[in-house]
Formats: sequence, C-alpha cells, structure tokens
Amino acid sequence: MKLKRKSALITGITGQDGSYLAEFLVAKGYKVYGLVRRTSTDPLARLESLYFSHKVTFINGNMRDSAALQRAVEIAKPDEIYNLAAQSDVGISFTCPEETMEVNYHGLGRLLYEAMKVNPKVRIYQASTSEMFGRSKPPQSEKTDFHPVSPYGEAKLRAHLDYVVGYREKHGLYICSGILFNHESPRRGKHFVTRKITHSLAKIKLGLQDKFELGNLEAKRDWGFAGDYIEAMWMMLQKPMPEDFVVATGESHTVRDFVEEAAGALNIKISWHGKGLRELAKDEGGKVILSINKSFFRPEEVVYLLGNSSKARKVLGWKPKVKFKELVKLMIEHDLKNLAH
Ligand code: GDD
Repeated sequence: MKLKRKSALITGITGQDGSYLAEFLVAKGYKVYGLVRRTSTDPLARLESLYFSHKVTFINGNMRDSAALQRAVEIAKPDEIYNLAAQSDVGISFTCPEETMEVNYHGLGRLLYEAMKVNPKVRIYQASTSEMFGRSKPPQSEKTDFHPVSPYGEAKLRAHLDYVVGYREKHGLYICSGILFNHESPRRGKHFVTRKITHSLAKIKLGLQDKFELGNLEAKRDWGFAGDYIEAMWMMLQKPMPEDFVVATGESHTVRDFVEEAAGALNIKISWHGKGLRELAKDEGGKVILSINKSFFRPEEVVYLLGNSSKARKVLGWKPKVKFKELVKLMIEHDLKNLAH
C-alpha cells in the first residue's frame, strides 16, 4: 500500500531557517508549501533551485492577513505547520514594537484559528527564542524563568504562553515551542552580527571595503549552525506528545570572540586599541578596520545567553554537528568565494 505523502506548510520559508527546512522536508518526501510575503526585493534568493524545479509551492500571503492564512491552509491541507515567519530583528523591535507584536504574537493567533478549522489534528512548530530568557541567569533550559528585555522577546513570550502552552492545555492542540538559541549560516541576513562580521571582513580582505562598525562587543551568545537546528524542529513534531525544547550548543562566545575568530580565518592579525565607544581594531599594518558606533547598541541588551539542550539531546536524540570554529570558517569561506567573482 502506498503511504500518503505528508504535507507541510512553512511560514517564513524565504528566510534562513525556512530555506534549510524546505530543502530538508523535500528530501524527506514531503509536499512543501511556503507562505511568501510580497516585498520589492527578490524574496526567492535562498530558494531558487527548489522554486524552479517545482519542488515547493509558494502561496502569497502574510501573518497579518487572516484571509490569506485561511487560503494557505486550505491549499496546503498541512499535516505539519512550521511557523517561522516573524519580525526577527531584535534591534528593530525597539523602533517598531507594534509591528513586532502584530506579526510575532497576533500572527500566530490568526494562523492557529485557521489551521484548526482545516485540520484539528495538525502538528504545529512555533519558532520561540532564547530572547525570551532575556535577563535570566545562564545556563538557560526549559525550566528557566523568562525575563525578556526587548519588544521582540516580549511578543515571542506572549505567543509562547498564550498560544503554545495555552492552546495545548486548553484545546488539546498539538503545538511545540522550539526555544532556539542563535543559529547562523552563510544564508544569514547581513544585518545580524555574525554575517555582518564575516561579510565585512571578507570585503576588507579583498580590498573592497576599508572598515566597518559594530555596537556591543561584550554580549555573549550561544551560536550554532542553522542547518543543524532545523532538524530539531522536525524531530519535535515526530514525537507522540507535544513538548517544548531548548536547542543550543552549550557553548557561548562574545561578539569580540567572533570578530577575532573570523579575522583569524582570513589571516588578518588584529589588535584592539582604546576603550568603550572609542575602541578600535587595527590590522597588522596599523589600518583601522573596525570601530564602535553607538547607534548599534540597543536600549536594553541581553547580556549572556548559554543554552542547556540536554532535554533535546536525551528525548529527541538531537545534537549539534557544527562547532563554533567550523561555523565561522564556513561563513567566511562562503563570503570570500561569493565576493571574489
Ligand atoms: N545586529 C547587530 N549589529 N548586532 C550587534 C552589532 C551590530 O552591529 N554589534 C553588536 N551586536 C550585538 C547585539 O547587541 C547582540 O547582543 C548580538 O550582537 C547579537 O545580535 P544579532 O545577531 O542581531 O542577534 P540577536 O541575538 O539579537 O537575535 C537573534 O537571535 C535570537 C535567538 O536568541 C535573532 O535571530 C532573533 O530572531 C533570535 O530569536
């Protein structure tokens, strides 16, 4: 007897995680549908090969539009939904708090309402985040209290409490939060700090740029590889009962460490000079390649994130494959290669 192919709907399919997840699910034999928001820039940059080989179906719409979400779930008739669509930039959430709440909180509410009408047995993955821990002391696990400090973290926490925990307990919905710590890749947007660093330093190495600017160098993040993390999303939805999981490497580094590792991977020897807002990094010839700009600091900062993912390792059998040094190297190699031609 031929088994029916599973159908998955990915909101946020055009983003870093969405594109890796789409490839992963297509390889597993899923019918993959993606919600695509209209933008004036090319939304398909990360998905061209899947799109032109007709391996995914795109559905126009966004998280603010109930009619579009209704249409999306009616077309996809999903067995699984991965809600990755978000205003995902923490810094921008301070200047656009309403949009952040509208998309990251109310958007999930709209999606659940429409999805449950089409298939009450649907399994839903919600992209929750380590930003929800905010000020909580590291290491952070599923048992750690939440203390978000940004509008982004607050919106994600409300979505987690009201719609993930709330709908699971009150309506018996199969929904899980993946509490993912920072995850990066060559597909990361250049406004996030890791890609900003690798892309800028690669340009400097090739003589295409003189210098670049950053904000807080002392923030500590638990950085993993996005390609590893999307596998954990899928694993969560294969369990008989829905549960929440922290996904992290268990290793934390400062932004400064990331700069040093990336410079090292390019054979740029850097030295630090000065303090605070006047701090600079110079190359071995004494040229300033990095300075600090106050505008990249946030009104409130999450100082130290370090995840304890032992539950995911034990219950899901998940573990990260790519370590910090390898992650930096693969991002640098990608940027160098892309910029060189
Ligand atoms: N973006 C950015 N740009 N961040 C900078 C800069 C800069 O020029 N200089 C220093 N930073 C610091 C930020 O203040 C922050 O402490 C750290 O670098 C990481 O910033 P981002 O790369 O923007 O990521 P994030 O930690 O705020 O949020 C990411 O990870 C979350 C999971 O913890 C995003 O992907 C979120 O969507 C995700 O939920």
